Parts: sequence; structure tokens; C-alpha cells
Amino acid sequence: VTLTQDDLKKIAAYKAVEHVKSGMVVGLGTGSTAKHAVDRIAQLLQQGKLKDIVGIPTSTKTHEQAVSLGIPLSDLDSHPIVDLAIEGADEVDPELNLVKGRGGSLLREKMVESASKKFVVIVDESKLVKHIGGSGLAMPVEVIPFCWNHSLKRLVNLFADSGCVGQLRKCPESGKPYVTDNGNYIIDLYFERDIGDLNEASDGILRLPGIVEHGMFIGLATSLIVAGIDGVTVKTK
Ligand code: A5P
Repeated sequence: VTLTQDDLKKIAAYKAVEHVKSGMVVGLGTGSTAKHAVDRIAQLLQQGKLKDIVGIPTSTKTHEQAVSLGIPLSDLDSHPIVDLAIEGADEVDPELNLVKGRGGSLLREKMVESASKKFVVIVDESKLVKHIGGSGLAMPVEVIPFCWNHSLKRLVNLFADSGCVGQLRKCPESGKPYVTDNGNYIIDLYFERDIGDLNEASDGILRLPGIVEHGMFIGLATSLIVAGIDGVTVKTK
């Protein structure tokens, strides 16, 4: 039997859900990998193998999925401390730093995951990189729609040494700007060269007015589950 990429995502997700115990407040991630974890939590609740779970969704999409599956939900206002968050990622480096947000929900994800005692990242092996931001794929930044083009230029200037280009994310169907769950836009940054120190890069981005959040998750993940064709590996910080 050959395993598809989706099979691998599911294997990683199911493995992560083994860490969910009855009574926990659980951060419910967003994306095609995290979706399997949410499905699995609902299944275990239905089977009575898990009880008294409170889910904290990281996007409206996950909120809808969890509601349709009957998972009891809450939010950070009522549950400021999350026991465990389970999330996918777009890129993971050896120190468990991540790029997230290619699916667009980086802000709520970061709010929930930075409030979590444990943050388990689930990926198939295609997401592993040496340096985040160096894969040639997008590093998303959520910005206020007001004068987004100005913000784009300031972001690109910040990373001039890394050969940075930026692009406003658009909906493929309508060609209109993609709007996040929070009513903001996303600028995707692409780097030709390494962006250097991640904390410096993060501080530089967050100092710009008009920027809400970026997709680098530095030092937040506490463990990583990688599913590959040769099996599952777990890495804990
Ligand atoms: C959502 O905005 C993202 O941060 C996702 O967590 C990330 O894109 C991983 O998604 P997949 O599991 O679909 O690759």
C-alpha cells in the first residue's frame, strides 16, 4: 500500500490526539492536517473515550467544522490557558520554529498557541526545512487594509538584503484581496536569500505600524510529530 500525503497528515494528527486527555482545554488547529485531529477528537468524544473537552478553534473554518461535529467550544476570553494545541505548519526548522498562515489564519493560531501550555505541531515530512523563510515559498504577514501597498513597500524594504518581494494575497476566483477572519489583508513575502536572525526579523516586522502579525512562530512549539513514508518521528523540546 502506498501512503498518500493526506494519509501521512492523518497519521501525524492521530498520533497527536493520543496526548488529549479528558477534561482538557484543547486548541483546535486549522488546515488540511489539523482537520484530521479535529475529526479524531470528535470521534473519541462520540465513542465516550474522551469526556469534558473544551475546544478553542483557531479560525472560523475550524469553528464551523467543530460545531458540525458537536465538539463543545469556547474562546480565550473564557479559557485564557489552553492545555494543548494541535496544529499543522507550512515549514518547520530543526529548532521547531515554524512558518504558518498559508491558509490565512495565522493571527488566531498565534493567539491560541501562545496561550497553550503544550503546542504539538503535526506535519508530513514535506514541511521540514533547514531555515524557515528560505524555501522560496510565502511567508505571510497580516496587515491592516488601510494603505496596504505602503505596508507592502515597507516590509520589502526591511528585507532588501534578502532579495525580498511581496505580493498582496488575492482570492483565485474573484481576483479580489483575500480577507482574513479578522477583516485584514495578507501580504505574502518571498525571499531570495536567508532572512538571518529570526527574532530580529520578527521585531522589525512588528515595529511597522499597520502590521498586525506575521507567520513566523518562533520558539512556540513544544513538540513535533512528523509522518513520513518510513514511519513517525516525534521530537520534543
Ligand atoms: C493555516 O493558516 C496555516 O497556518 C496552516 O496551519 C498551515 O498552512 C498548514 O496547513 P496544511 O496542514 O493544510 O498544510
